[in-house]
Amino acid sequence: MQKNNTVIISDNRNSSLAKNISLNLDVSYENAELRVFADGESKIRLDNVAKRNCIIIHSTYPPIDQHLMQLFMIIYKCRQDGASDICVVNPYLAYSRQDKVFVDGEIVTINLIGRILASLGTTKLVTIDTHSPGSLNYSFETVDLSAIPSLANYVKKNIPLNRPIVISPDEGGIQRAKKFAAVIYTDMLSLIKTRDRFTGDVSISLSDQQPLENRDALIVDDMISTGNSIIKATEILKKNNIGNVYVICTHALLLNDAKEKLVRAGIKEVISTNSIPNEFAKVDLSGVISNYFSDH
Ligand code: R5P
Repeated sequence: MQKNNTVIISDNRNSSLAKNISLNLDVSYENAELRVFADGESKIRLDNVAKRNCIIIHSTYPPIDQHLMQLFMIIYKCRQDGASDICVVNPYLAYSRQDKVFVDGEIVTINLIGRILASLGTTKLVTIDTHSPGSLNYSFETVDLSAIPSLANYVKKNIPLNRPIVISPDEGGIQRAKKFAAVIYTDMLSLIKTRDRFTGDVSISLSDQQPLENRDALIVDDMISTGNSIIKATEILKKNNIGNVYVICTHALLLNDAKEKLVRAGIKEVISTNSIPNEFAKVDLSGVISNYFSDH
């Protein structure tokens, strides 16, 4: 990275993460001034970034379509000014779960996002623990960084645990759970999750009977959205006399009454990153993102 030619850009919503990254990397920061009008339209204003390497920090959590549109507007301005490079750092990538045609007639929306980003002139996309990094077959470079080691180190330093076991709520999360378990030197177990593709209902089961009695469980997932997957996983673990249940995720969307549901399910603590502002954000992503750019 050429420091003197690089600029970190964000709107106010993403400015705390963006300013930390600009301080860590010792590169300049530009604010994309943002206004949202009464009808929901957004408007941005950004100083000229001609010939600069632009790194846009912009997480697309809900309201996702509005935040995506604001991202498109910032990229468009950078390209219009004649920026050299446009790298988008999108910690929570919206539509990442629409990575397949599950039911005939659907579209793979994550491909549409890639097409739009490419047409605007994006040269690189950096995500964090995105749901399905393998599905980002875009025409420009994509990089998926992981906050799992940072989350695991946070747990190791701050939470006293009794014979912990790391749990993946589904088979898709096994690699994440293994990575987490390696940091805290313990074993992991994957549950089996099935989802009704028409109703969205989730059921979770335990494949083999393994003694879990009084062991503390660390359920590791990429995201908590409605909380239903975590609650179902907790129910099955509690039936098997698990000890305390902790939930660790990169992206805590916590939609509607998810937080209250998690409390009612008897979860002792939730730990997440700040990819989405929330009260459980204990791990700041600026370190993971800055380290990547220091080396590239
Ligand atoms: C799905 O496979 C993901 O990894 C998460 O487990 C899921 O998206 C969480 O959603 P929810 O909290 O609504 O169950």
